[in-house]
Amino acid sequence: MGFSFPTEVVSEGVVEIVVPRLEAFVKSPSDYAPSKAPVFYNPVMELNRDFAVLAVQAFQRLAGRELQVCEPLAGCGIRGIRLAREVEGVEKVVVNDINDEAYRLAKFNVEKNGLLDKVCVENEDANFLLSGFAAPRRRFDYVDVDPFGSPVPFVDSALRAVRRGGLLALTATDLASLCGVYPQACVRKYGGRPLRTEYCHELAVRLLAGALARSAAKYDVGVRIVFSHSSEHYVRLYAVVDHGAKKANACLKKMGCIKHCFGCLHREVAAGMLGCSRGKCLECGDMMSVAGPLWIGKIVDENFVNRMEKESEERAFRQKKKIRKLLMLARGEADAPITYYVVDKVCDKFDLPVPPIEEVTAKLKTAGYQVGLTHFETQGIKTNAPAKAMREAVTKTHA
Ligand SMILES: C[S@@+](CC[C@H](N)C(=O)[O-])C[C@H]1O[C@@H](n2cnc3c(N)ncnc32)[C@H](O)[C@@H]1O
Ligand SMILES: [Zn+2]
Repeated sequence: MGFSFPTEVVSEGVVEIVVPRLEAFVKSPSDYAPSKAPVFYNPVMELNRDFAVLAVQAFQRLAGRELQVCEPLAGCGIRGIRLAREVEGVEKVVVNDINDEAYRLAKFNVEKNGLLDKVCVENEDANFLLSGFAAPRRRFDYVDVDPFGSPVPFVDSALRAVRRGGLLALTATDLASLCGVYPQACVRKYGGRPLRTEYCHELAVRLLAGALARSAAKYDVGVRIVFSHSSEHYVRLYAVVDHGAKKANACLKKMGCIKHCFGCLHREVAAGMLGCSRGKCLECGDMMSVAGPLWIGKIVDENFVNRMEKESEERAFRQKKKIRKLLMLARGEADAPITYYVVDKVCDKFDLPVPPIEEVTAKLKTAGYQVGLTHFETQGIKTNAPAKAMREAVTKTHA
C-alpha cells in the first residue's frame, strides 16, 4: 500500500479502513498507542463515531435536505468516510488533516471505499481550512471537531463555517481540566471554573457548552444543544447553530453557575453571565463552592434523541446495546434537574452502607420527588430532592 509504517485493515460500521497497526507502536505498557502511531486512529472511539452517524442522520431527517459535511481533524479519515457511506442525504464530505501521512492515508481510504466523487481530502491547518469555508454560500451543514484535548482552539473558525441552522459537534478529551484536576487550565480555555464533584462529567458538558455559547454570541449566533454525552475519556456535544442577535441574547440567558456544598451535598443553580458569589449553604451553613460560568440550559433535546433512537434500530452497530441504553437514558435526562447524586458517594460522605439504587429511587418517588437515572453515572440519580432528602432516602432504606 506504500506506507512507511505497519498497517492493517479494520472494519467499522459498513466501511473497511486501513489504519496503523497499533501494537507495533507500543514500546511500554504505559504507551497510549493511538498517539504513538504516525497517523491517529483510536478504536475506542468507535462509539463516538457511531453516535456521530446517528446524530447526523437524525439532523438530516429533521432538516430534510442534502448535507455538506466537514471533518477538519480527520486522522485516517474513518469518521468522514463513515458519514459519507452511512448517512443518507450526505452529498459531500471534506476531510482534512495537517499531518502529511494522515492526509495520504485518508486519501487512500477514500479511494478504497469508492468515494472519490463524494469525499475530498485536504492537508491544511484546520483553522485555515475552516476559514476558507466561512463565506455565506460556502458553509457546511455539519462540522465535526474531534481533536486531541480541547476543541476550543477550533471553535471560532468552526462556528463561522457552519451555515444557518447547521449542526456543530465538539469532542473534548481534556477531562483533567474540565473535571477540576487543573482548574486554571479550565478557566483559561473554557472561561468557567470546574469543580471536583461526583457530577463533574455533567459540569464538563456544561462548561464546554458555555464556552461554545459565548464564542457564538460574538458572531450574533445562538446555539441549541440537541445531544451530548460523556463516555470513556471524553465529553461530546452536538449543537444546532441559530443565527441572529436575539438568538445569541437568549442563549446568554442560559449561562449561570452551580453552587455546591461539600459539607452536606446541597447544590443550587443560579442564572447570570458573570458568575456568582460563593455564599453560605442554606442547609448547613458551610461556605459553598462555585462552578461556572457555564451553560445551565438543556443539554439534550428529546425529539432529537428520539430520532437518533429510531435511526439506531436499523443499524448493526457492534455496540448496539450500549448505544440504545445511553440514548434511552439521555432522552430521560432531557427535562431532568441539573446535577445528580451518586448513591455510593452520598453513602461514603455520611458513612452509611450502600443500598441498591432501586430502593433509593423508590423511596424518593414515594416522597413525591421527580426521579430519574443518568447516562453520566450508573449509580447516579437525577432528582429535585434536596440533599437532606437524598440522605434520608439512603439512610431510611437501611433503618
Ligand atoms: C483525535 S485525532 C482525530 C481522530 C478522528 N477524528 C477520528 O474520528 O478518528 C486529531 C487529529 O487532528 C490532527 N491535527 C492536529 N492539529 C491539527 C491542525 N491544526 N489542523 C489540522 N489537523 C490537525 C492530528 O494530526 C490528528 O490526526
Ligand atoms: Zn451544606
